[in-house]
Amino acid sequence: MFIVPGPASIELGERVASLLGLKPKPVDHRIFPDGESYIRLTSNVRDETVVIVQTTAPDQDRRLIQLIMMTSTAKELGAERVICVVPYLAYSRQDKRFLEGEAFSLDVIVGMLEDAGADDLLVVDAHNEDSLREIQSMHGIKIHNLSAVPILAQGVKDMGYGGAFSLSPDKGGIHLAKAADKILGGGYSFFEKRRDRKTGEIEMLVKDLEIKGKKAVVFDDIISSGGTMARALRGLKDQGTELVAAACTHALFMEGAEKRIEKAGADLIVISDTVTTSVEGICFTVAPLIAEKIREIVA
Ligand code: R5P
Repeated sequence: MFIVPGPASIELGERVASLLGLKPKPVDHRIFPDGESYIRLTSNVRDETVVIVQTTAPDQDRRLIQLIMMTSTAKELGAERVICVVPYLAYSRQDKRFLEGEAFSLDVIVGMLEDAGADDLLVVDAHNEDSLREIQSMHGIKIHNLSAVPILAQGVKDMGYGGAFSLSPDKGGIHLAKAADKILGGGYSFFEKRRDRKTGEIEMLVKDLEIKGKKAVVFDDIISSGGTMARALRGLKDQGTELVAAACTHALFMEGAEKRIEKAGADLIVISDTVTTSVEGICFTVAPLIAEKIREIVA
């Protein structure tokens, strides 16, 4: 088996390879002056199981193209099985056609990977696992969804948040709060979040949670602008929560997100390394989670 760390996930790919006791097989990669990517696999992949590790955080389109090129090249050059490890799968939030005529982007991306020759797709905290399952049933590719939430929850617990209340910023993420509660044990709930599909504006209703003087942690799959997390944290602070932590798997943290979250009162920010970020949060690696799953699926 070969582990190929893609240009977007060199460190994570190397960690996974090392946990599996393998030497990573690097990709020769550069960007042409016009922005196009050059990709060359440096090992003979014939008859091998090739595991490509490439996240697709911004710049999503470039990283997706690189992933497609690596996958398709490995298959064309005779790889027996190609496993795409895409810790953060871009375009996952458009997991159905909400308005007539919209691109069903998650389906488009999975279809592209399958057409390129991917046999398996391994993701971490898929935005909507049910949609992925549905998409899997329409394609031939096998999809594996892992969760970083137990790692994040254990991390905040070790930092003094044992017994904290777990929350998700919307009903769709309640499974995250529930999973975290198994470790933190202080109960769990969700906020009511509504998004205007045309303007993208969100409205968040903060329920009365009776958590005055307690600790709480908000778990989300993604922090992008930080708007959702900031509103959740502010709602908790307004209710007199003693300490609030923000935990997320995919720390995209676009311009201003970190400040927004700190200003909302975050006492702690914990993230995972599914994407590379400059955020000053406590970062936990998903490498062991990925390595264990790879071991299981190639066994
Ligand atoms: C949305 O459904 C996701 O789970 C996140 O809550 C959302 O993507 C976060 O985005 P932002 O940080 O821009 O509010």
